[in-house]
Amino acid sequence: MSDSNKILITGGAGFIGSHLVRLMVDKYPNYHIYNLDALTYAGNLENLKAVENKDNYTFLHGDICDKNYLEEIFSKYQFDGVIHLAAESHVDRSIEDPDAFAITNVIGTLNLLNACKKHWLDLKDKRFYNVSTDEVYGSLGDTGLFSEDTSYDPRSPYSASKASADHFVRAYFHTYNLPIVISNCSNNYGPEQFPEKLIPLMINNIKKKIELPVYGEGTNVRDWLWVTDHAQAIDLIYHQGKTGETYNIGGNNEWTNIDLVKKLCAIMDQKLNREEGESEKLIRFVKDRAGHDKRYAIDASKIKNELGWEPSIAFDEGFEKTVDWYLHNEKWMEKIISGAYKAYYTKQYKNR
Ligand code: NAD
Ligand code: TYD
Repeated sequence: MSDSNKILITGGAGFIGSHLVRLMVDKYPNYHIYNLDALTYAGNLENLKAVENKDNYTFLHGDICDKNYLEEIFSKYQFDGVIHLAAESHVDRSIEDPDAFAITNVIGTLNLLNACKKHWLDLKDKRFYNVSTDEVYGSLGDTGLFSEDTSYDPRSPYSASKASADHFVRAYFHTYNLPIVISNCSNNYGPEQFPEKLIPLMINNIKKKIELPVYGEGTNVRDWLWVTDHAQAIDLIYHQGKTGETYNIGGNNEWTNIDLVKKLCAIMDQKLNREEGESEKLIRFVKDRAGHDKRYAIDASKIKNELGWEPSIAFDEGFEKTVDWYLHNEKWMEKIISGAYKAYYTKQYKNR
């Protein structure tokens, strides 16, 4: 890629997007980073305070479903590359309202592809990067790993919408030569994750001594990756990944939900000077998620062998940093918890 670059990052006010925006703005002073975000319930400009006044950063408040707005910004800024993260991202919400996932994740992605196709007459040094999930591969049994060759088998409306977006992205590569790259990553954890997701939800509940809703028997397995490691992998793939290729990203760090929640309880007991075992008493096994995928696990050898990427920190360290961040950033959490999210959470919990 050239060393002056105008990159459009979509969804940069969300969890992973804000880590990526901060990384790229700081690391590449010669680039200009444009962050396009609709600021849905999941978007939070507080996550971007560190970069909001930087000369090489511009926030664009808009919706990827708004074709006219995309036309306006693509004409005005002449982006060299797009790193696409904007999405509806929560599986439970996708079960309640699948349409919203098709609209943003499928149609929104298609709109971006069309804008690139129209505006990138010279494809040299251009790149469309779709940030996707391992959930497109479906659900594993007790053994095995997802590789880049695993067939897609999405089972939730969320993963079906992300899989569909990936298919469109590949179709634009084969049909129109659009220079694309895709990555499929496992579950991220770290600071600034919206508290509907497992880890920040549990941290908040433990702190407030609210019941801890573990779905089913808690035996479902997820592979957890420190969010900054994901952002670094995206930076690497954007610059060095091969056009047309897919890269799996994972933490090699599998946990059953129940073991993870118990680990959180133990750390929080220490941090909050509670008696050993006190927080665990808050655990409640609740009605399982519909279609709950049993296990996700990633074979990340391609990105390791071809691009030299590996997770940088051990889970114990990342986990403790995560807990500390939420405990030291109570205002961040309170602002979300006391807003519209409160009604959503209360309704969700009552339904279980
Ligand atoms: P998030 O929900 O925290 O953030 C999504 C962001 O997209 C928000 O800032 C939101 O305002 C914005 N957005 C939503 N709809 C939009 C629209 N129509 N137009 C413009 N902006 C819109 O999500 P996240 O966890 O940071 O995930 C980011 C991306 O990474 C998603 O594409 C997700 O599928 C993918 N991913 C996430 C994980 C994970 O563990 N969180 C793992 C693998 C892949
Ligand atoms: P989540 O953070 O929603 O991510 P994903 O569904 O994309 O993997 O959930 C992680 C795991 O935790 C998943 O197996 C569902 C489970 N879970 C619970 O047991 N209780 C909860 O309150 C939540 C939000 C998730």
